[in-house]
Amino acid sequence: MAEEGSKWVVMVTGRSPTNIAVIKYWGKRDEGLILPINDSISLTLDPLHLSATTTVAVSPSFSRDRMWLNGKEIPLSGERYQKCLREIRKRANEVSDEKQGIKIKKEDWERLHVHISSYNNFPTAAGLASSAAGFACLVFTLAKLMNVKEDLGEISSIARQGSGSACRSLYGGFVKWAMGNNADGSDSLAIQLADETHWTDLVIIIAVVSSKQKETSSTSGMRETVQTSALINHRAETVVPARVLKMEEAIQNRDFASFAKLACTDSNQFHAVCLDTSPPIFYMNDTSHRIINLVEKWNHSEGTPQVAYTFDAGPNAVLISPNRKTAALLLQRLLFQFPPNQDTDLSSFVVGDKSILQDAGVTSMKDIETLEPPTECKDKVPYQRFTGDVSYFICTRVGSGPKVLTDETLALLDPITGLPK
Ligand code: ADE
Repeated sequence: MAEEGSKWVVMVTGRSPTNIAVIKYWGKRDEGLILPINDSISLTLDPLHLSATTTVAVSPSFSRDRMWLNGKEIPLSGERYQKCLREIRKRANEVSDEKQGIKIKKEDWERLHVHISSYNNFPTAAGLASSAAGFACLVFTLAKLMNVKEDLGEISSIARQGSGSACRSLYGGFVKWAMGNNADGSDSLAIQLADETHWTDLVIIIAVVSSKQKETSSTSGMRETVQTSALINHRAETVVPARVLKMEEAIQNRDFASFAKLACTDSNQFHAVCLDTSPPIFYMNDTSHRIINLVEKWNHSEGTPQVAYTFDAGPNAVLISPNRKTAALLLQRLLFQFPPNQDTDLSSFVVGDKSILQDAGVTSMKDIETLEPPTECKDKVPYQRFTGDVSYFICTRVGSGPKVLTDETLALLDPITGLPK
């Protein structure tokens, strides 16, 4: 290794996606190791729209491990961060940086410190699984910096110890988190079911629903469910194992009708076990329920599922359509029922892949005002429009797994000082 006094900094920048479960993870059998009571299945979302970017740097001039999240320094003392750092450091290998003429020996990693800077390209507190993208990115990027040779499955089981669902963000496309059987958690890891090129027609629209009240965190919610719900055992032991097999088959066959039925039913059962918890946990709100009604009515009137919905531990709706045409029809319905507040501009109300707006025939705020009620509701009592109840929509798709970013201008740490840019 180059001399201690020298000023070299070696760094790597990575980007990891977030994911949305369509067969839900709810309940741990080991809280310390984050081992779940059932398998879960997710779709990885396009990192262009929802991802964490993390730069990790090492230098002999760093006196301790430090981390910045969205520009603000945060403590790394939490057990979850410490576990991820420890498990990756354990697997570190020799690294050569030919450009700078630096060699870091395997044993050097034990005493070298790291700086970490991470940034989410979507609101961190909006209930959009930022910790899944964040821990996946942290572990993936540290593993690259330290030349860790283990496969992505093993890396995913380290990310799992940061945030359970983070393990599913180590792969693109369609991913299963196998609950595993080993007491040490070594077989509780992510498995890619199909990559992002397998089912490219799917379009995902996320309705970010304004929530005033603070929700129960997933960690305490799950604990309370496991301790008090009688339904959760039936779900974990009987319902999910059968549903996981059917979901794998639906994904393999690109069978949207089956996929949608399973995803909606599983989301509803997850919220049912939350209600079965004592005291009951409410993650969805009136807007979430109105979105479910909108989709259920539409699906029923067409006789076959047009859209799938799924809700995590919060009020936001994740809506999955089989193709762009259906996504455009969905967006028309959503914009009709949940128009923006006055003075909102369209470009901040519908973000991500905005091309769906054109397909929906909506190019101005005026177009939203003049949308017609959907046909399946024409005969019903007067229409209510719930202005401002959805903060904004994100249009996205199934995307790829973590990647190293080689463009040095995207690094979040200064290559000379190792401090945030
Ligand atoms: N929690 C939320 N976002 C995160 C990120 N980008 N990195 C680490 N932890 C996070």
